Amino acid sequence: MNKDLYLKSIQKFDTYKRFGKVTRVVGLMIESKGPEASIGDLCYIHAHTHGRTRKIAAEVVGFQEENLLLMPLSDLKEIGPGSLVEATKEPLQIKAGTGLVGQVINPLGEMMDGTCLPKGLKNYPTEQAPPNPLKRPTISEPIQVGVKAIDSLLTVGEGQRIGIFAGSGVGKSTLLGMMSRNSSADVNVIALIGERGREVREFIENDLGEEGLKRSIVVVATSDQPALMRVKGAYTATAISEYFRERGFNVNLLMDSITRFAMAQREIGLATGEPPTTKGYTPSVFAALPKLLERTGKSHNGSITAYYTVLVDGDDLNEPISDTVRGILDGHIILDRKLAEQGQFPAINVLKSISRVMNQVVDDNHKQAAERLRKLLAVYEENSELIQIGAYKRGSSREIDEAIQYHPSIIKFLKQGVNEKSSFEQSINSLLQLLV
Ligand SMILES: Nc1ncnc2c1ncn2[C@@H]1O[C@H](COP(=O)(O)OP(=O)(O)OP(=O)(O)O)[C@@H](O)[C@H]1O
Ligand SMILES: [Mg+2]
Repeated sequence: MNKDLYLKSIQKFDTYKRFGKVTRVVGLMIESKGPEASIGDLCYIHAHTHGRTRKIAAEVVGFQEENLLLMPLSDLKEIGPGSLVEATKEPLQIKAGTGLVGQVINPLGEMMDGTCLPKGLKNYPTEQAPPNPLKRPTISEPIQVGVKAIDSLLTVGEGQRIGIFAGSGVGKSTLLGMMSRNSSADVNVIALIGERGREVREFIENDLGEEGLKRSIVVVATSDQPALMRVKGAYTATAISEYFRERGFNVNLLMDSITRFAMAQREIGLATGEPPTTKGYTPSVFAALPKLLERTGKSHNGSITAYYTVLVDGDDLNEPISDTVRGILDGHIILDRKLAEQGQFPAINVLKSISRVMNQVVDDNHKQAAERLRKLLAVYEENSELIQIGAYKRGSSREIDEAIQYHPSIIKFLKQGVNEKSSFEQSINSLLQLLV
């Protein structure tokens, strides 16, 4: 009985390896005649160096008449005309499992330090379909982020997806580090996409620290790597988050940055001959973004609460990637350069930020207190110029008087040192006490 089964699978097994040959290389793109493969399949190109063969991973990204268009996942150096192209007939898979926690890996799922992966991991494809929209449970529970301003005024729900919009140097990495260390999620998956190599090390050692790394998996694709690797970094981190979600975990996915993912996708699009549209971004960028962002969120087994940083150049919030991402996600946190310059860290501009699920996940007391604080801040902002030059006379308006009276304690409440911890309950209590 068992023997038959084995014989059958041997008969079914394809023992032929299928090869094609490289015919042309243009920029980032390799053209080959054969092998038989479909879009998204992984192939290995056999490169020869000093009499030895090295296999270079590449992915099928298109066709040109009868020929395959491939993009490499590493440097192109030793490829020549006639180099063999081996088909695997499968898309890229990584290895996932609890053994990855505390490790730093590349988009192919290999250890960054070159050592062997821990044992007991399972194969897992990096590209998956998003959960069925009708089967998605609604978001009903808050999750502790561990940053006072966010937990109290921009409460995040378990399975919510949020954009963090920031220019350079306004405290993005520091904030992501604080979230990874202080949040109540079971595990963090951190994707560093398109950062400079130096920044990666600084982030892991300083911002995340040992305490953060212990409960995180870091996926790194630096800016010098091929565009396809940077795109894969986002897919791999999302796939690892999905792996944990389907096993019942509450996962935090922190992706820095989605803008660099879009830029890498643009590079690929332009190389495959797509037309550039807004700001040179190709149509495939706008197709890839919702497909990636819809994969996170809540499922019946667990949740992925996701934070995507968006780079805003010259603090311009209307560039096409910001716009698209803001439309897909359930909220945004805006880091403001003005606040950072005044030394107010984290530099969250509360009035410009919003959590679209907050009202679903907090109680009435908390909601009212948050609304009151926003109102006080807004009144102060509207009149800040008058107040600061001393043109406002106390007693003219009760509303403004109140805003002035509360302002110093509100600012003190919103500030939080890098190593200052605050639980969800502590943050809410401080908010309620502040306003009595
Ligand atoms: N919570 C905080 N408390 C005090 N200082 C802070 C805080 N957050 C950030 N800073 C200050 O802001 C500086 C810049 O922060 P950070 O490196 O996190 O910014 P970034 O947005 O990641 O910058 P880049 O764009 O260069 O990656 C830090 O060196 C630190 O001095
Ligand atoms: Mg940074």
